[in-house]
Amino acid sequence: MDYSIESLPLDQLETDCIIVGIYKHQQLTPSAKKVDQASHQLIRNLIERGDIKGKICETLLINVVPDSTIPRVLLVGLGDKGQVSIKSYRNAIVAAVKALQKTHIKSAVCTLAEIELKAHDYQWRCRQIVELFNQNLYQFTQTKSQKPTPHALSYLKITATDEHKSVATIGLKQGLAIAQGVSLARYLADLAANICTPSFLAEQATDMSKRFSKMSVDILEESDLERLKMHSFLAVSRGSVQPAKLICLNYQGGNAQEKPIVFVGKGLTFDAGGISIKPSAGMDEMKYDMCGGASVIGVLQAAAQMELPLNIIGLVPSSENMPDADANKPGDVLTSMAGKTIEVLNTDAEGRLILCDTLTYAERFDPELVIDLATLTGACLVALGRVPSGLLGTDDELCDEIIAASKTACDSVWRLPLWEEYQAQLKSNFADIANIGGRDAGTITAACFLSRFTESYRWAHLDIAGTAWRSGAEKGATGRPVPLLCQFLLNRANA
Ligand code: BES
Ligand code: MN
Ligand code: ZN
Repeated sequence: MDYSIESLPLDQLETDCIIVGIYKHQQLTPSAKKVDQASHQLIRNLIERGDIKGKICETLLINVVPDSTIPRVLLVGLGDKGQVSIKSYRNAIVAAVKALQKTHIKSAVCTLAEIELKAHDYQWRCRQIVELFNQNLYQFTQTKSQKPTPHALSYLKITATDEHKSVATIGLKQGLAIAQGVSLARYLADLAANICTPSFLAEQATDMSKRFSKMSVDILEESDLERLKMHSFLAVSRGSVQPAKLICLNYQGGNAQEKPIVFVGKGLTFDAGGISIKPSAGMDEMKYDMCGGASVIGVLQAAAQMELPLNIIGLVPSSENMPDADANKPGDVLTSMAGKTIEVLNTDAEGRLILCDTLTYAERFDPELVIDLATLTGACLVALGRVPSGLLGTDDELCDEIIAASKTACDSVWRLPLWEEYQAQLKSNFADIANIGGRDAGTITAACFLSRFTESYRWAHLDIAGTAWRSGAEKGATGRPVPLLCQFLLNRANA
């Protein structure tokens, strides 16, 4: 799909279809008015006939436009004028994509960036168009021998008058970088676990890094992890024949003296639970247990593509969690890289075991702050469903910064408390800390566990168990929270 900004007047456009918005009560957007005037009040007549009311997300494709240079018009309902919310703006764009998908239209011009929103400017509105078109046109075809027919739509032009052209161009560039970061994360996550192994993930990260001069990669092998005394991480990998990898991406977009922002993404390419094996129903979805890692790779790619003036480190501990004669067992006591001992009461609480050593490793980068993202707990799904990602941390300022970014990016989070009272649930009779905290507050006790390894820097944790992929008929990765983290970086770059 090719995206560009278009500032020619409507009568000079060359396209298969123009997308224009209409509000309720017969109110037209500026572009809809122009199309209406150029077509002998075609739109007004259709409204009068009752063919479209302007309700939010309503669409009407006009296939024949008399005396017009543009052969088709797609009308999109926007609801009440002056009351278009961020969500309804986004939903209207999605409705337009869905309507176009049903046709064989190859090129379209989208005028929806002209819609006034209270909180967001032209740049943001262009960006959303690119992100949403990309998100809804994503197809995973890698492992199908009978490829589904690709979407016809291949060119999208977003209109902007000369006044808005430069911000629109920035919005387009950001939108493309974020959209491609999302697509990369989704692609890696949707791949089957027999293809997307820790070694494969490391190769993909390496290939990605080679495309950018300011990016380098370091892949730590099991022997390196051994040397670093990452016995907690290694214990998870012991039951798997696939060697574990610690992927370290380094993007140097800022001054050499500037402290880096560090992202840590859980990269379990398959989580069978280990000896505490999971029930088989739905276990296939545990190929998605590397979504945090995939998002880190996607975010680093987007940051490099946007040429952000920041230093960013992406760490992805990657492993499988399998049952095996040599696997980690309940009751085993491990010594983490930090020197803390851990009693493994459940081998299925493996994410925190690979993350804790990686969080300790993050110390050597003298980070400005660390954010980890992990499909960490089923309990997060129980608490919050599949709408927001869980956000935990004791640094209020950092959490507020993440919340602000999530609102701009429309990639929601909900903060859960990380009060010290919960720490007691991790008490072990045989080690410094247990790897599970019982049935209550599972998302919080998982974050409590991680917090024991993050005391030397500013840190926040995102539990993306409910948001990183969808189940059921629409099963597939979402690429979240790539938009949120890209926005977090953009805000920092602009500050
Ligand atoms: N990867 C899972 C968490 C998960 C489960 C995410 C289902 C999304 C859907 C994680 O490794 C895990 O198994 N967590 C356990 C922790 C428990 C043993 C304390 C869980 O949530 O059941
Ligand atoms: Mn698990
Ligand atoms: Zn897991």
